[in-house]
Amino acid sequence: MSTFEQLVFSGVQPTGNLHLGNYLGAIRRWVALQEDYNCIYCVVDQHAITQAMSVWGGPAELMRNTREVTAAFLASGIDPKKHIVFNQSRVRQHAELAWVFNCIARMGWLNRMTQFKDKAGKDRENASVGLFTYPNLMAADILAYRATHVPVGEDQKQHLELTRDIAQKFNTDFSGRIAELGLGVETQSGDETIASFFPLTEPVIGGPAARVMSLRDGTKKMSKSDPSDLSRINLIDDADTISKKIRKAKTDAEPLPSDVEGLKDRPEADNLVGIYAALIDANKEKVIGDFGGQQFSVFKPALADLAVERLAPIAAEMRRISADASYVDAVLKDGGERAALLAEKTLRNVRDIIGFLQD
Ligand code: AMP
Ligand code: TRP
Repeated sequence: MSTFEQLVFSGVQPTGNLHLGNYLGAIRRWVALQEDYNCIYCVVDQHAITQAMSVWGGPAELMRNTREVTAAFLASGIDPKKHIVFNQSRVRQHAELAWVFNCIARMGWLNRMTQFKDKAGKDRENASVGLFTYPNLMAADILAYRATHVPVGEDQKQHLELTRDIAQKFNTDFSGRIAELGLGVETQSGDETIASFFPLTEPVIGGPAARVMSLRDGTKKMSKSDPSDLSRINLIDDADTISKKIRKAKTDAEPLPSDVEGLKDRPEADNLVGIYAALIDANKEKVIGDFGGQQFSVFKPALADLAVERLAPIAAEMRRISADASYVDAVLKDGGERAALLAEKTLRNVRDIIGFLQD
């Protein structure tokens, strides 16, 4: 029985202000997965334009941010020779497959997406149609490569569930045709063995930094769009800025608890402990073991030193790589060419499955 080849896919939008949440929740974990999987990492520029131009900044800003995010991938340790790094819009097959998924996904499914509600805000009539169908394009990104594993932060969980629903509906709607063309991979669905064309992708979410919170408000996630720059540590912040932001981070007045249970109902303390844990690649228990009972006046400087030690080299490397736009562009071009070959293989099959005539 054939099985799906294991493959990792993930993406980040080029909307500026790449921050510690993006790094700890996503990019750092991508780096680790390179050891055991073939990986495809994408700068999702087509997703960026789903919001108002005032948010994504217009053409010059989009180009700048696309290169900057690429530089962040490379500076963090992603190897563009062994794996694939590219910007989404280069590979037309994503948009083509997204159209098919627009016709597979149901309005009701998309109506439940909390990210759309958050981003559209009160003025839903004025949100772009692209913002509404955003999750279908995301499913297309993943399934154009029939990727089996997707490492993301906690906030993307619902979108990955939708990706599975889309894959499942496509597989069942076209099951006869998939079998007739011999394109099915046998998979178990309850008691039945069915021939699936798309895998049901596994989310890879977790660890102490799956949801890094704002430094100003432990109940809100750290976000690119927060108006307060003090709320986040940007990957390009220098050492002094990182230290200052951690010193100024909101906390309560109690010392750190002596066990992790004591972090419940203390969102700011929990967040800082989680960040420390992720930066040393350990769990919160380890950090509480070392710092339990200590005041923030002790813990914050230790965290600031650690953050500077881990992040400053990445920022320096990002600056070095960004200075050479032609190198960054060459990485994206090469990655795009390799990605397109893989995606076209999938799309040829999809066209046949649906009944679109092609040569
Ligand atoms: P985005 O900036 O929305 O394109 O997100 C890029 C990646 O970073 C996604 O995998 C997100 O889930 C992840 N991410 C964004 N914000 C956070 C956060 N505050 N904590 C953890 N992961 C995050
Ligand atoms: N929606 C993701 C985010 O905002 C970015 C993204 C687009 C993505 N396509 C993807 C993530 C495919 C993983 C896989 O963070």
